[in-house]
Amino acid sequence: MADSVPRLSRRGFLAASGAALLGAVVAGSAGHAAPGAGTAQLGDFWLFGRYDDGCTDPGFDESDLDPVQLPHCVTPLSWTGWDPASWQDRWIYRKHFTGTASDRFRARFDGVLTNAEVHLNGELVATHEGGYLPFEVDLPGVVPGDNVLAVVVDGRWALDVPPNLPRSAGPSVIDFYQPAGIYRPATVAAVGRTRLADVFAQPVDVLSPGRSLHLTCTLEAPVTAEVTASVRQAGRELARAAAPVRGTTAEFDVGGLGAVRLWDVEDPALCDVVVTVRAGSAVLDQRIVRTGFREARFTPDGFFLNGRRLKLFGLNRHQWYPFAGGAMPDRVQRRDAEILRRELNCTMVRCSHYPQSSAFLDACDELGLLVWEEIPGWGRVGDTAWQEQNLRDVSAMITRDRNHPSIVVWGTRVNEANGTTAMYQRTGQLARRLDPSRPTSGALASSTGARYAGSDVEVLAYNDYTARRGGPFQLRPPRPGVPYLVTESIGTLAGARAYRRTDPAATQQQQAELHAKAHDLAAADDRYCGLLAWCAFDYPSGWQRSVGGTKFAGVADLFRIPKPAAAFYASQGDPLARAVVEPGFAWDFTAQPTGPGRNATIWSNCDRLELFLDDHPAGAARSRRADFPHLRYPPFAVDLVVPRGQRPQLRIDGYAAGRLVVSRRFSGDRSRDVLGCVPDDTELRADGTDATRVVVSALDRFGTLRAGATGKVALTMTGPGALVDDDTIDLGATGGAAAVWLRPFAGTPGTLTLTARHEVLGTATATVTTTASGTAGGTRS
Ligand code: GAL
Repeated sequence: MADSVPRLSRRGFLAASGAALLGAVVAGSAGHAAPGAGTAQLGDFWLFGRYDDGCTDPGFDESDLDPVQLPHCVTPLSWTGWDPASWQDRWIYRKHFTGTASDRFRARFDGVLTNAEVHLNGELVATHEGGYLPFEVDLPGVVPGDNVLAVVVDGRWALDVPPNLPRSAGPSVIDFYQPAGIYRPATVAAVGRTRLADVFAQPVDVLSPGRSLHLTCTLEAPVTAEVTASVRQAGRELARAAAPVRGTTAEFDVGGLGAVRLWDVEDPALCDVVVTVRAGSAVLDQRIVRTGFREARFTPDGFFLNGRRLKLFGLNRHQWYPFAGGAMPDRVQRRDAEILRRELNCTMVRCSHYPQSSAFLDACDELGLLVWEEIPGWGRVGDTAWQEQNLRDVSAMITRDRNHPSIVVWGTRVNEANGTTAMYQRTGQLARRLDPSRPTSGALASSTGARYAGSDVEVLAYNDYTARRGGPFQLRPPRPGVPYLVTESIGTLAGARAYRRTDPAATQQQQAELHAKAHDLAAADDRYCGLLAWCAFDYPSGWQRSVGGTKFAGVADLFRIPKPAAAFYASQGDPLARAVVEPGFAWDFTAQPTGPGRNATIWSNCDRLELFLDDHPAGAARSRRADFPHLRYPPFAVDLVVPRGQRPQLRIDGYAAGRLVVSRRFSGDRSRDVLGCVPDDTELRADGTDATRVVVSALDRFGTLRAGATGKVALTMTGPGALVDDDTIDLGATGGAAAVWLRPFAGTPGTLTLTARHEVLGTATATVTTTASGTAGGTRS
């Protein structure tokens, strides 16, 4: 097995690490641009190993430590069969840097699983508990010359930190594995003496032409100064205002925003708010905060965005990836939001069951994907100390994320955990104090939801697994008189225990049908604000109904490659923007010698489908509107029975608005199948904090995934980067496709070439250029 640790020689490490000395920090990134201040990514090389006595001392013998890049996971992982024992331990990360005499330095860690102790030059400077929220650490003891930042990472289960529950009698896992590491970005900054600690930009009266922006700017220390805010959209200033700092706070409104373009799921127009702190002509600090003007209302009669009814259509997302655990760079995190919004047509995602990466949330803002964000937790509540951590998590989550227009509700209850009303009243009240603009909620369990009065939240949310009792698929009726949202459904609790591309066609089709039915039922009744099904991507788990260490509940797999159930989601978008024709069956005569048979399903947003076998008309498909009366685009049914021994080519033509909008061909002839090796991006930054996925798959000659393919694919990579993978892919185990990630080293631009070889399907390559600047990990249009 290859590992997620970049392979780099010690000599290479020492040469490369010199390029990012702390003394050479550059001004202007991470939102701050105060004179003399600057921020540097801490993603490039660190030294890493198992915890050892004395490992935080400046003079510790580092010869047994390995060079690694952040974000980083402490253990090599495969795509399946993770073993918690491999990360549930203590670890040490050490970073050498050159300090200067005059500057004041601060480090920021976006996420460390699970607990961290930060030491500078042998002195303990901070501790932090909990793996899903950021923390900042002042580094007061930086000396001119060499300094050592040493971070002890504790990934043991026995920590009294949500979502872990060490004092319960239960097993030492919950439904999702949480591999340890400094698994999100880290930065270090030379910070100014007067610094903005926080800016909350809250849009007010959004739907009225007199709308304004209410600003609360908090400084780290009292100062005599003025704060100015300039609101800009599409590069143009719309309005500005200023106010003096009183104590440590400046609070004021920016009016005159009648011309602002509203933020919406279809048109996610953002604004930049440039906040500047000035004393006379001196600029003390500056920060650019992004926001968007939208009104989101959950009502007993449904959800309304900017006054327009919107049925929330979505999925839950876990943040785990093959090989790297949670430690995937920002670009990869952003890609999940693109898949959800652009490929699966979701208007909402639930970040289950913890705050997710800032990069993911930024992408949700840019793409128009609404977000439910919730505190870490799963199933049960711990003791008083554990509940105090809930409060700290509410505070850190809302302070970090309240400027994201995509977030429309805070989950202040622990997922499916009873807790006490008093406890949830505290989390809810804290949330409303920190952000009066959004409602609170919490996903209730099937077993208890019906009895819950809902007095501590504004939105009643329910994980509806009613259907597990058998019989026709159903949802609970909405609770009258309160805003009601279905936060989970289906998963592996309805229908089969696992949904894999290797499972029988009928099982995979069942998953697609259940997702379609759940959304159809939610669409049938205006009182459902919407439905977020379980779930977007498979995730590693050792809990009930996991199979071989994975919960195969996703409509896409752990590699983010769609399963047939994803075809239902893909088919729910505008056909004139992207016409979709996705057979719910495989056009493959190995497992089905006479074809898919009668009443096979095709997911499509077209008005009409015409079928052809070897270019001979084979009739039109029948709409399944009667089965799904409320879906925007119901699927079609076709009878496709082929004489044994024949393997004709299938062509499907799709028509919308009276014209042909899509034509797809599918080959039944496996002898012409090929290997695909396709990167998501062709240019990356060689700064140690970038990566892209490469999908390796068996394809028919028209480019459709051949899920029934078997055999091994051998992978080799050349160039200055790490291949984040298992060395081979077993197509028979993954269902004809898998993915690996390419991760350039810091400071050494070049070309990464991945070669994939399969005995029968041949050879395919992917080439990615890495440059000093690269392309931003931005959203592709
Ligand atoms: C729910 C839970 C999810 C997941 C799901 C199983 O009860 O909230 O996290 O475990 O069940 O499919």
